[in-house]
Amino acid sequence: MNAVSVTEKQILPRPPVKWAGGKSQLLEQFELLFPRTEYSLYLEPFVGGGAVFFHLQPEKAVLIDSSEELINFYLTVRNHLEELLIDLRKHENKAEYYYRIRALNPEELSPVGRASRFLYLNKTGYNGLWRVNRQGKHNVPFGRYKNPKIVDEPNLRLVSEALKRAEIICGDFSLALDHAKAGAIVYLDPPYHPVSATASFTSYTAENFGEEEQKRLAEVFRELDRKGCLVMLSNSDTEFVRGLYSGYNITTVHAKRAINCRADRRGPVKELVIRNYS
Ligand SMILES: C[S@@+](CC[C@H](N)C(=O)[O-])C[C@H]1O[C@@H](n2cnc3c(N)ncnc32)[C@H](O)[C@@H]1O
Repeated sequence: MNAVSVTEKQILPRPPVKWAGGKSQLLEQFELLFPRTEYSLYLEPFVGGGAVFFHLQPEKAVLIDSSEELINFYLTVRNHLEELLIDLRKHENKAEYYYRIRALNPEELSPVGRASRFLYLNKTGYNGLWRVNRQGKHNVPFGRYKNPKIVDEPNLRLVSEALKRAEIICGDFSLALDHAKAGAIVYLDPPYHPVSATASFTSYTAENFGEEEQKRLAEVFRELDRKGCLVMLSNSDTEFVRGLYSGYNITTVHAKRAINCRADRRGPVKELVIRNYS
């Protein structure tokens, strides 16, 4: 398999959900950084919105994320798309309806109902993001968008086809080690190490991703390297992150902060891409 070029992207699926830290805007810069070699397996242990996976279109992939809601959504889009499309059409873009759906306990819903609620809240909630509080409850207010595209059927069909080539796992990133083999490509996009004490955004799931987790991830990176995988990782540009990966190939890319309600914090930021190949 080889990476496709960005000029082909109009026929590719787009990430079906808006996800904090989404990588769509970095794909052009990544084009020069992806491995050029043929590969038989693609592993993405923090898949999130899947911008890189949907862009690369690997023939065989393992996708992992610790967000149960997100993984249930992907499994449903892959395995029960028609039922999901029917359920999605019932939703209304009204505040009172939104808060009623938000209040439902996802664990009491069917997998299709749960995936439908997840996509609906993502498309109609403020800023379109998925955020949970410490109890794991979704806490984004109604977005008041005029005409949100809740059901993008053509894109969901492309997403479903792409996911049919993937094993989809809910769990910790370290599970990637069980699947890793020489020649596989691994892209790691963890919650970022905060550039300042107040900049932290780690609320996709109820658990935090602190410095101990970053160190554990650096260990997994080294283990994947030892196994002969081609490993690429994104993170913020901090001394701590540079220290964890010293000895590896470190490049900077320029990102716009996609999700920030404060306009003054939306300027370009430098991010790191760390690779075990050149
Ligand atoms: C920066 S986002 C990934 C964004 C993704 N690359 C995209 O384009 O949308 C980080 C992801 O890591 C997931 N995550 C957090 N802790 C994790 C863990 N311990 N193991 C696996 N995934 C985790 C979050 O649910 C989130 O989806």
